[in-house]
Amino acid sequence: DGEAYKYYADGEWKKSSSGKLVPIINPTTRKVHYKVQACTQEEVNKVMETAKIAQKSWAKTPLWKRAELLHKAASILKEHKAPIAESLVKEIAKPAKDAVTEVVRSGDLVSYCAEEGVRILGEGKFLVSDSFPGNDRTKYCLTSKIPLGVVLAIPPFNYPVNLAVSKIAPALIAGNSLVLKPPTQGAVSCLHMVHCFHLAGFPKGLISCVTGKGSEIGDFLTMHPGVNCISFTGGDTGIAISKKAGMIPLQMELGGKDACIVLEDADLDLVAANIIKGGFSYSGQRCTAVKVVLVMESVADALVEKVNKRVAKLTVGPPEENSDITPVVSESSANFIEGLVVDAKQKGATFCQEYKRDGNLIWPLLLDNVRPDMRIAWEEPFGPVLPVIRITSVEEGIHHCNASNFGLQGCVFTKDINKAILIGDAMETGTVQINSAPARGPDHFPFQGIKDSGIGSQGITNSINMMTKIKTTVINLP
Ligand code: G3P
Repeated sequence: DGEAYKYYADGEWKKSSSGKLVPIINPTTRKVHYKVQACTQEEVNKVMETAKIAQKSWAKTPLWKRAELLHKAASILKEHKAPIAESLVKEIAKPAKDAVTEVVRSGDLVSYCAEEGVRILGEGKFLVSDSFPGNDRTKYCLTSKIPLGVVLAIPPFNYPVNLAVSKIAPALIAGNSLVLKPPTQGAVSCLHMVHCFHLAGFPKGLISCVTGKGSEIGDFLTMHPGVNCISFTGGDTGIAISKKAGMIPLQMELGGKDACIVLEDADLDLVAANIIKGGFSYSGQRCTAVKVVLVMESVADALVEKVNKRVAKLTVGPPEENSDITPVVSESSANFIEGLVVDAKQKGATFCQEYKRDGNLIWPLLLDNVRPDMRIAWEEPFGPVLPVIRITSVEEGIHHCNASNFGLQGCVFTKDINKAILIGDAMETGTVQINSAPARGPDHFPFQGIKDSGIGSQGITNSINMMTKIKTTVINLP
């Protein structure tokens, strides 16, 4: 009943001295599929010590050599795409094809990061003093980027591999060491991915992967004095982490309620296609999923009809069969989604499809005529249920978007580019997509949320910069 995986520390695979294992439930079968080590606080301390030591010599390793190792890891990752994708299917019920895409995208991210790193870390600035009032040209200032130290990476379940490497690769190229705490669902995929870095031949202790219960080692890790930077993607836990963490740089992406504003002149077929892709891919379990449609009343009937036709074509079933809609990650998640659906029903939303659930599998559901008093108008289902709110003015749409406590991305559909830009500027979100569904990628684009959606900006270049500090040397002339 489940295979036990070891954790990774000091370049070796180890069993925890706790003697305890954490079960990973397959969302499709709802049975234990894997087990990982429940690491102890003592083991975390050990990992932090070795990470600190390994970082010192890594920072002195030439940048081109660091890049070379990352390129090697990227190609090993791509060679190992099959077993990693297999565990994504079993742990998080990601459709098989998408699981392979996640691994390939991750390999590309690692290579791009190595290339970008050698460029941006390979140059600094030179300043002279006489541009500031009162100064002669007697001081030359040189800047360079230096690593922060030990970076703690905490990715979420929905992209355990991609959102782990989007933290690991920038940290390593910049000369940091890395401690990874994977999500429980997704831990085995992370361990497989870390194995690829192991095979690439990174120095011992530079990368570690500690598994275990958040309740036992979560706070201990995030509040650990040995941590010099935290990069976290996930839910509300991020807010708690930001309150407890020390005086260290934080990078956080904590979810969204991405609005899709549809104007009268929009190409409704394009909108419908994007609502399906944006709202229902990976069963809506993406921070950047379309989470509320705000459509002008005059085109709402036509749009809802087009979306419903496409919803009817979505396949529902196990991830192994590449179904469009697969079981959501856990029973508690399915129960939460159901709670939002029941609330919307009681308050009079129009059900475009019948609500259907079997275990963790929830059939795709479009809810029309949703009103602001319904929970689903504001809360993030992280499931295949999408609310439609009919609006009578663009201002009403912008107002709803901005009244959210989230501000990750948003999108606007119109053929009038001037209107699109003005609406985009008025939307309080980190990114606005014009005529397409929200998305994080391509992975070198800046990615950031405002309000409760996060701190800092991700994307390859921003992450590399965020994981460094500026060091200046001033040459004083006589
Ligand atoms: O939910 C995580 C977020 O980073 C989404 O990424 O690529 O699906 O837009 P993506």
